[in-house]
Amino acid sequence: MLDQLKAIPPDPILGISSAFAKDPNPNRIDLGIGVYRDESGSTPMLQSVVEAEKRMIAAQTSKSYLGPTGVTGFNSAMAELTFGANCEALLAGRIRTVQTPGGTGALRVSAELVKAANPAARIWVSEPTWPNHLVIFPAAGVPVETYPYFDKETSSLRFDDMLSSLRQRGPGDAVLFHACCHNPCGVSPNAGQWEAISDLAAERGFLPVVDLAYQGFEKSLEEDNLAVRLFTQKCPELIVAMSCSKNFAVYRERVGAIAVVAASAQKAADIETNIHSLTRKNYSMPPAHGPAVINVLLHDADLTALWRTEVTTMRNRINTLRAILVEKIRISGIQQDFSFLQRQSGMFSFLGLNVTQVRRLREEFSIYTVDSARANIASFNTRNIDYFVAALGKVLAD
Ligand SMILES: Cc1ncc(COP(=O)(O)O)c(C=O)c1O
Repeated sequence: MLDQLKAIPPDPILGISSAFAKDPNPNRIDLGIGVYRDESGSTPMLQSVVEAEKRMIAAQTSKSYLGPTGVTGFNSAMAELTFGANCEALLAGRIRTVQTPGGTGALRVSAELVKAANPAARIWVSEPTWPNHLVIFPAAGVPVETYPYFDKETSSLRFDDMLSSLRQRGPGDAVLFHACCHNPCGVSPNAGQWEAISDLAAERGFLPVVDLAYQGFEKSLEEDNLAVRLFTQKCPELIVAMSCSKNFAVYRERVGAIAVVAASAQKAADIETNIHSLTRKNYSMPPAHGPAVINVLLHDADLTALWRTEVTTMRNRINTLRAILVEKIRISGIQQDFSFLQRQSGMFSFLGLNVTQVRRLREEFSIYTVDSARANIASFNTRNIDYFVAALGKVLAD
């Protein structure tokens, strides 16, 4: 039976990473993979996480299974971080949070929940979006459609087109939003635009599904939740898929959670039983290690304060790199305007290069991006940024 299976080409980003790893050029730069990097080019563990891990291990007495909700203290701390401790829906018991393996796991459970609730549902995602969205939902039987989002000409949001498209959605439809730091384009709605989007969700009655993978990487841990908080205030139902991979730098530990807001506390409890039933058929029980560490961290005031400063450091570094890059490109004599990079946020932006220019960067300069020219800005540092700007100038000149 299994000999029927044909090889599947690797994900383009993983393909880029393995080509990069084999490249002997000492100046090589990997702009592809989506992990935060510090000035030395590595993806460090956070001190707050390392300390919390030590304390968690010292206190741990059993490796027995967790229940289906996972580490309870982790779930409640994540709910407070995301919705705010004074959130009315949270206090009313209308929100249930269940630990998942990473943000990807939360999205997959969201997809299965949507399918179980409405077998005819479709989900609308931004054009473009994180490529995994395009496969996770169909894998659970939920077809994906797109709404306009990014204007390639101006490197900004197609807000009016987005709203016109969302005006066509209604009950029975789900619509996915990136809460902040849009992957791949780095463009977010501003506060007024989120107000209009959430008003529309309430008016039209579609189900918002918010992907919260970069909380703290755009403006602040609080401000990056604006979309979640507005939807929670205005809409009876909402799904939030949270990831701790980036803001706690625990990528490989696979830490995330799905939070569901329902119209009543009873309905929220009913929905949670559906989540348990779906995960039981899938991975049975969630993993303990990463969430147990974050549980310790978020219940200790000093560790939480340290973690907040570490998130600020990561965010400031990315924003500073955006400013430095724009300035270096400007003074290099490159004619094209790259100032849009400074108006965008998070790790990713499109460089606005065509496939020929992307290939030249790779083949002539060992600078690796995917064909869309999405770049991870956190991959720059003082040692490689001038080399990059010089190479960019060469591929744009010809
Ligand atoms: C937009 C978006 N959503 C979700 C995720 C999921 O992250 P993870 O499964 O690693 O927690 C990512 C990771 O790159 C992402 O970019």
